[in-house]
This record gives sequence, structure tokens and C-alpha cells, in this order.
Amino acid sequence: MARRKKIYEGKAKVLYEGPEPGTLVQYFKDDATAFNAEKVDVIDGKGVLNNRLSEFFMTGLMNIGVPTHFIKRLNMREQLVRQVEIIPLEVIVRNFAAGSMAKRLGLEEGTPLPRPIVEYSYKDDALGDPLVPEEYIVAFGWATQQDLDDIIALALRVNDFMSGVMHGVGIKLVDFKIEIGRIWDNDFMRLVVADEISPDSCRLWDVETGKKLDKDVFRRDLGNLTDAYTEVARRLGVLPANSAHPKPTLIN
Ligand code: TMP
Ligand code: ASP
Repeated sequence: MARRKKIYEGKAKVLYEGPEPGTLVQYFKDDATAFNAEKVDVIDGKGVLNNRLSEFFMTGLMNIGVPTHFIKRLNMREQLVRQVEIIPLEVIVRNFAAGSMAKRLGLEEGTPLPRPIVEYSYKDDALGDPLVPEEYIVAFGWATQQDLDDIIALALRVNDFMSGVMHGVGIKLVDFKIEIGRIWDNDFMRLVVADEISPDSCRLWDVETGKKLDKDVFRRDLGNLTDAYTEVARRLGVLPANSAHPKPTLIN
């Protein structure tokens, strides 16, 4: 097979040159990292599940009019996406206190927040993705104030969609992270949801039991990550209800 041109390799995904100009192939690896890659492992089947789940969420978003980079899934581990210029921010939306916010403010995990809170981390692994205020983002030119207004509107639409979809299958969307890209059509710029939306980038708790069904299972050594993601996929109908493992049922 002819070698493809690798454009970028991150911790969980690889981007290859796509078949048409302006497209990329996004490959989902089984690698899992946490705490800025201090903790590393290979989780059999994770990439396959995240490819399917990200397809499911991005397609749902597009169906309600939220623009994303997603074009189509190609196979078990790859999807075709629009090439975008990534804004170097992790856009985090929180509905309940957890993780770094719970720690920073001394709140019990699961405390409801007065309203959804949007916050930003500057994407820089060497610095550990530090939390940054809007003031920094605008002053350093990573995004304009208008971009930020548009990003907040996008992030809140994603939040409402994801919260509703998850609630429908008995899962609470505690928080999540998205990345935003710019697409240029001549001089006209659009902001779209890019990267991935998967249990790697969300906190998902079972509504009844509080059981964690996201990457905290890996971060906090709470059990088998593939089982947790399979449970999410199964409830959403992305995997058949009786499938124990993604592999046999996910051929293409
Ligand atoms: P945090 O509570 O650790 O700041 O995480 C907030 C949300 O962002 C949570 O859903 C996990 C997600 N997240 C990522 O997707 N990538 C990251 O590198 C980090 C730190 C968090
Ligand atoms: N993605 C980050 C890392 O690789 C952290 C995380 O998701 O917890 O370390």
C-alpha cells in the first residue's frame, strides 16, 4: 500500500493527508494518556469505539445545524474530515463541578453549577494546557472577541445537544471539552467543531448509580475503559444492545 503523508500525530489520533485538497483522514489510536502524558497505556478497542462515537455525535450535531469538520467515517478507525485551522484552545463546558474545577474551588464532585460554565485552556502540552481568561486569548490574538462570542454560542449548543442525547440513555453529561477550527471559503471564515467528541473528552456518569463511563475510569484506575465506552455506545444504539465487545460487530 502506498504510504500516506502524515500531517500530524497527537496523543490519541493521527492526521493524514486526505484524498481531496482541504480534507484529512483522522485515525483513532488505542493509546490513552492522562495528566499530560504522565500516565500512558494502550487500551485495546478504544480507537474503534471513539471513531464510532465521534461519528455519532458529530452527525447528530450537523443534523441540528451545528457545523463540524466531519465528512464521513471511512472504516473502523478512520474518518474523513475537513482540514481546519485549529484555534489553540480547549473549550470546556461544565454543568456539574468535577475534575480540576472541583479541586480548584473545593467543591464536591457532582455539585450542580448555577448555569453551564464555559472556560478555556491554552493548548500547550509543555505548559500542561493552562487555564486562560478571555483577556489573554484576545490580547495574544488566539481568537477575537467576536470569535469567542461565536465559540460560546457553539459550545452551548453542543452542550444542550449532548446533555439531551445522554439524558435520553440515562447518562449525565457532567462536563466536556471541544476544539474549534476555522474554515476559510475565500475571505469568509467559519468556525466549526473539530477534533473529536468521545468519552475521552467528556465526563459521563450513569444517572442512577453515578458510575463513571468516561476517561476518568483510566485516569483514576476505576476498571476497564473499553467496557465503559462499550456501555455508552451500546446505550446510544451505536453498538447492538447485546454486544460485549466492539470488535466483532464493528467491521466497517
Ligand atoms: P478537567 O476537569 O480535568 O479540567 O477536565 C474538564 C473536561 O475536559 C473533562 O470532560 C475532560 C476534558 N479534558 C480533555 O478532553 N482533555 C484534557 O487534556 C483535559 C485535562 C480534560
Ligand atoms: N489528554 C491529556 C493527556 O494526555 C489529559 C487528560 O485527558 O486527562 O495527558
